[in-house]
Amino acid sequence: MTEAVLLVGGQGTRLRPLTINTPKPMLPVAGVPFTVHQILRARDAGVTRIVLSTSYKAEVFREFIEGSDLGIEIVIATEPEPLGTGGAIRFAAAHLNSAPDDSVLIFNGDVLSGVDIQGLVKHHEDSNSDVTLYLTPVEDPRAYGLVPTDQHGRVTAFLEKPTSLEGIVTNNINAGCYVFRRDVIDRIPEGRVVSVERETFPELLATGALVSGVVDSGYWLDLGTPLAFVQGSRDLVLGHAPSPAVGTHGDALAMEGAFIADSAHVHGGSVIGRNASVDSDAVVDGAVVFDKARILAGAHVRNSIIGEGAVVGVGSHLDGVVVGDAAVIGAGNELQKGVRVWPGAVIGDLTIRFSSDG
Ligand code: GTP
Repeated sequence: MTEAVLLVGGQGTRLRPLTINTPKPMLPVAGVPFTVHQILRARDAGVTRIVLSTSYKAEVFREFIEGSDLGIEIVIATEPEPLGTGGAIRFAAAHLNSAPDDSVLIFNGDVLSGVDIQGLVKHHEDSNSDVTLYLTPVEDPRAYGLVPTDQHGRVTAFLEKPTSLEGIVTNNINAGCYVFRRDVIDRIPEGRVVSVERETFPELLATGALVSGVVDSGYWLDLGTPLAFVQGSRDLVLGHAPSPAVGTHGDALAMEGAFIADSAHVHGGSVIGRNASVDSDAVVDGAVVFDKARILAGAHVRNSIIGEGAVVGVGSHLDGVVVGDAAVIGAGNELQKGVRVWPGAVIGDLTIRFSSDG
């Protein structure tokens, strides 16, 4: 297995407003675009060529890839319009060199995991499967489609989110990483929207194809929501999540040119971006502060994402909040879980309380 397709074309609606300017996989996580963590993991597992399957804001990927050398060949495929996960894989196939019987690794652009990629491919080839899915067990599977397997690891169904306790027949869910035999990709309908989860996989089962599942209970996190995004970044900094892109682990990560006042307290796996600043007596706990953002004196920022060039005013308290790029939060505000401040918005010296989760 030498080739992979990395799906990065989604709109990332759950992470708005951060994804208005930057596509989700290009948002910085532990100091580098999330995509870099994934590309390096694939490279370290023996992948030598990746097709980056782009759609939304493709130019951001193109610019980054052209200016970097990640030690692996990267080809960019851009759909003329979003084709969904299956349609995107089919579109990317035109850029693959693999022969019909070769294994091709496919992975979602928003999953942070420690899956044993080589083990997954080996299982796929040893079992002579058409497709092999990486499955992860979750404590509460009610929010996910379920993927039951038989005692030989053969997938028996793709079930919608369970609506009752009886519906929870397994805790294993699709973890967003697959191995396809190349000729299976070529059979996905061309030039239209296809969902691999809702259409391709169920159809493969219906036609008697061998779809295998490999359960891996190591680290897995879908970074699709603000709270998960902060958690993923925190876990990478603290060393709880694996990535070859993170050299040393610690309580916090300060990027080049970041300023942290002596009396400020930055901890809990926080990241302070390039040329960002944290002024005197400010507290940053388990948060992600993007480049050039400013946390002013005495502000408290917990579990939050502060966009590029945004300002958190003197003494303001933020917990579980997303602040868009270049937004300004005035002094003395209190913003709580679920609040999202749009890029460039200005919030005055008010005290705002919200209790909704988002
Ligand atoms: P939300 O809008 O917040 O649900 O996020 P998303 O747009 O990333 O959607 P989702 O998490 O369901 O997508 C799973 C993976 O497929 C992500 O890595 C997406 O970038 C990718 N993806 C989704 N739709 C498309 C598409 O139409 N084209 C391409 N190339 N990739 C896609």
